[in-house]
Amino acid sequence: MGAAANDAGLGLARPPTARVFFALWPEAALQRELGRRARAIERASGGRATRTENIHLTLVFLGDVPVARLPDLCAAAGGVTGEPCALALDRLGYWKHNRIAWAGTSAMPPPLAALVAGLEASLAAAGFAFDRRPYVPHITLVRKARAAEPARFDRLDWPCREFVLVQSARDAQGARYEIIGRWGLAGAGPSR
Ligand code: 2AM
Repeated sequence: MGAAANDAGLGLARPPTARVFFALWPEAALQRELGRRARAIERASGGRATRTENIHLTLVFLGDVPVARLPDLCAAAGGVTGEPCALALDRLGYWKHNRIAWAGTSAMPPPLAALVAGLEASLAAAGFAFDRRPYVPHITLVRKARAAEPARFDRLDWPCREFVLVQSARDAQGARYEIIGRWGLAGAGPSR
């Protein structure tokens, strides 16, 4: 038996990893309202509504990161100075290529764009790889939907005051998310 096979057998070949992403996490009441809307779309357009407790807005998706690097990841996030941001969720979107119905905004708040850019710069400087597709803020409401109907979407205001690091795992119901770090969006100015 070769050394590689031996290592694999002992579980030494690959260090343990965690599937992680940074996100804005809605308060319970907003999450419940988004969950109700997701289920209304599911009834009208088929597919699978996101579990209410999983509803979130991704900022930066990293994917698998060695568990041993999580402290460095948290340190990189801690170096980001973000401003509080007022996010107006005022539109439903639908992507044909992956059949996702999502909630989003027609006016990207500058503090949100700055937060994503600041996080990306800090992660890159610390040597982390992440999804670099142009950022489109979206909250996935339903997967495998035929459309995003009913199309009416009454505006929901979301005052964002922190961002979080989330670890994704799977259970019998699908994805299960655990918040493993939180950072306030207090701005760079002196604290009052
Ligand atoms: P999605 O809802 O559009 O799939 C956890 O998977 C979160 O990270 C989801 O919000 C997901 O967006 C987002 N994400 C971004 N890029 C991803 C990728 N390459 N693979 C999986 N999830 C990704």
